[in-house]
Amino acid sequence: MAIFHIVVFSVLFLTSHLVARASGSTVVETTYVVVGGGTAGLVVATRLSENSANTVIVLEAGSDGFNNPNIGNLSVASIQSLPGTSVDWNYTSTPLEFASNQIINETRGRVLGGSSAVNGALFTRPNKIDLDLWELAFGAIGWNWNTISAAIKKAEHFSATAGLTSILSFHGTSGPIFDSQQTPVDDVWTQGVVPAVLAAGGTESLDQNGGDPAGIWYTPRAMFPNSTRSYSANSYYQPNAGRPNLHVMVNSTVSRILWGKSKNGKVVATGVEYINLAGEKLTVSGDRVILSAGVYGTPQVLELSGVGNHQIINPLGISTVVNLPAVGENLSEQPTAIYLAALASGVADSGQQFPNNFETPRTLLNSTEWITAYRLLQTAPPGLSDAAHKALIAMFLSDSVIVEFMSFPSPPAGLIFLPILLHPMSRGSSHIVSANVTAPPSIDLALIQSPFDIYILTKSAQRARRFATQAPLTPFLAGEVLPGAAITTDAQFSQFVKDFMGVAWHPLGTAAFGSVVDANLRVKGTTNVFVADGSIIPVQPGCHPSAIIYGIGEKAAAMLKASPRTDDV
Ligand SMILES: Cc1cc2nc3c(=O)[nH]c(=O)nc-3n(C[C@H](O)[C@H](O)[C@H](O)COP(=O)(O)OP(=O)(O)OC[C@H]3O[C@@H](n4cnc5c(N)ncnc54)[C@H](O)[C@@H]3O)c2cc1C
Ligand SMILES: *[C@@H]1O[C@H](CO)[C@@H](O)[C@H](O)[C@H]1NC(C)=O
Ligand SMILES: *[C@@H]1O[C@H](CO)[C@@H](O)[C@H](O)[C@H]1NC(C)=O
Ligand SMILES: *[C@@H]1O[C@H](CO)[C@@H](O)[C@H](O)[C@H]1NC(C)=O
Ligand SMILES: *[C@@H]1O[C@H](CO)[C@@H](O)[C@H](O)[C@H]1NC(C)=O
Ligand SMILES: *[C@@H]1O[C@H](CO)[C@@H](O)[C@H](O)[C@H]1NC(C)=O
Ligand SMILES: *[C@@H]1O[C@H](CO)[C@@H](O)[C@H](O)[C@H]1NC(C)=O
Ligand SMILES: *[C@@H]1O[C@H](CO)[C@@H](O)[C@H](O)[C@H]1NC(C)=O
Ligand SMILES: *[C@@H]1O[C@H](CO)[C@@H](O)[C@H](O)[C@H]1NC(C)=O
Repeated sequence: MAIFHIVVFSVLFLTSHLVARASGSTVVETTYVVVGGGTAGLVVATRLSENSANTVIVLEAGSDGFNNPNIGNLSVASIQSLPGTSVDWNYTSTPLEFASNQIINETRGRVLGGSSAVNGALFTRPNKIDLDLWELAFGAIGWNWNTISAAIKKAEHFSATAGLTSILSFHGTSGPIFDSQQTPVDDVWTQGVVPAVLAAGGTESLDQNGGDPAGIWYTPRAMFPNSTRSYSANSYYQPNAGRPNLHVMVNSTVSRILWGKSKNGKVVATGVEYINLAGEKLTVSGDRVILSAGVYGTPQVLELSGVGNHQIINPLGISTVVNLPAVGENLSEQPTAIYLAALASGVADSGQQFPNNFETPRTLLNSTEWITAYRLLQTAPPGLSDAAHKALIAMFLSDSVIVEFMSFPSPPAGLIFLPILLHPMSRGSSHIVSANVTAPPSIDLALIQSPFDIYILTKSAQRARRFATQAPLTPFLAGEVLPGAAITTDAQFSQFVKDFMGVAWHPLGTAAFGSVVDANLRVKGTTNVFVADGSIIPVQPGCHPSAIIYGIGEKAAAMLKASPRTDDV
């Protein structure tokens, strides 16, 4: 396997210089150091290495994972077996102050491919406005539905599945990540769940990926035609592992950015320090540093490097390099409620088809409930910026999807509706508590701090029961397990939501546009440090985020290619 370890050391100290090519055009030789070989990191690295003037070095904390059978296998059981193993960072939240003091396991991939190696592989896009708001509300010029969906198409290789609707023009068909819908079989999903949702006033979608995801549809998953996982490690990196200018170092945990002499009042990175498996501290030099360490790793490395809120880092013995208080702030995660029923005896639990139902405020809520929700939306909880608050109001008023009801089996014989709150108002934070990179950050998810969040989840939990009690579905079910017959009033439902809160594992926002990075992804106050991962997303889009994060990787690489390091001043 072409995973280079330290043989690349000589390469690392290559002096970069301008070379005049025979053609007369000038190329700028550039060494890129990518921190984190995850979802976006391997996209950026692979694309940058298409240009032979670039040397790309990726440092990944985890191992390569290629021999782990549970990564390739997309069965619910395999996916559920990954958390809490060596491919998981095993992060936990602080006790949820507003949700019965529960502690949430915040699974994140610690393996080549990052979270794309351990996720559910659903490949989705949000409402158009959710992405247009990056430009309109957060000043991320050039980042909108049109440009981001073009970048997602570059990543995507979609193929239609016989017997299921899809609209080919919504998809990319020649990118590295394969995706398709699971072939349906006649069972509880096709005969029960879909007709029940329609009977309860839901709608059918022809394809959720064109900027209006509302309705129920068999959502595609990132998988090859043989149904195994297609993700950044096996679809971007592996086919290009032989490139002489692409070096991926696993078992290498970056502990900080190294700084040189400042230019024009901005700090200049010269490389990074990392720790190998033996616990030794080593360094890598480069011209540009790209942080793709994910929503918890990226702010951690920034803070360890002196970029963050000085009141948080100085007491830990870290001197301020750039005082940037928004690092680690604006954390948002999508909370979930649950509906669980037992399947009637003899009903096959074959379903991996994921008929997912996205609903908007106007389908989820009746007119009085809509007004209640809109009133609750006016009060911003602590930590929600003005810009994000306005963006949430704009999404609500334009009827952008607000809840997703996932439906999937619960082995051995259960059916789950999992309502996901897509546009939470609550904002938490993730900050270091030690100058030692091996200490996990303190993750305060602040889930459902906002009464709006509790209200929408409560209404969603009630609606899930309505689906389960529709005539087409009832013959398939043997009875409700959760919430259970004792839960009937609004107050009981809201307490149930608090007691059984989960998460979609979609944390975003800890190095957001406008406050940590500019529209070119450059970290404020630095000349040559960039972020490319889910941390830059300023507000939760109404979807699962990996497709957008692949798009971020594609767009980041294209921008960096178009703007040589000689622009870094
Ligand atoms: C269980 C689960 C299910 C999910 N299901 C879906 C789904 O069905 N569909 C969907 O679209 N999304 C899903 N998601 C979310 C999605 O997978 C993530 O949002 C996305 O993969 C994050 O990409 P990223 O590039 O931001 O970070 P990651 O992919 O997490 O990459 C970060 C990388 O950086 C590495 N790293 C961190 N710190 C350091 C350091 N100091 N030094 C070196 N390396 C470091 C990590 O090990 C990791 O490889 C799910 C997530 C989880 C956990
Ligand atoms: C990385 O570490 C794991 C053990 O955690 C080991 O099995 C693997 O061989 C290492 N990979 C390399 C390339 O050193
Ligand atoms: C995937 O995992 C499931 C359940 O764990 C198992 O039944 C199935 O055989 C596995 N598939 C492959 C191809 O290994
Ligand atoms: C969280 O992780 C711990 C340790 O792996 C495990 O014991 C616990 O069951 C997990 N909790 C949930 C809700 O999955
Ligand atoms: C996560 O926990 C499991 C089980 O205890 C352990 O094997 C694994 O090494 C842990 N992951 C990390 C990154 O420490
Ligand atoms: C599935 O297909 C992929 C891509 O062609 C291939 O790399 C992989 O080995 C295949 N896996 C199995 C189990 O057939
Ligand atoms: C992030 O948080 C900071 C501090 O609360 C705030 O100033 C900034 O506007 C927020 N950014 C976004 C994108 O919401
Ligand atoms: C809306 O639903 C609520 C229950 O949440 C009910 O009390 C109310 O009468 C309904 N209003 C309308 C206009 O249907
Ligand atoms: C950091 O923490 C690890 C694990 O607890 C420990 O082995 C290491 O010595 C610590 N490093 C420093 C510099 O304190």
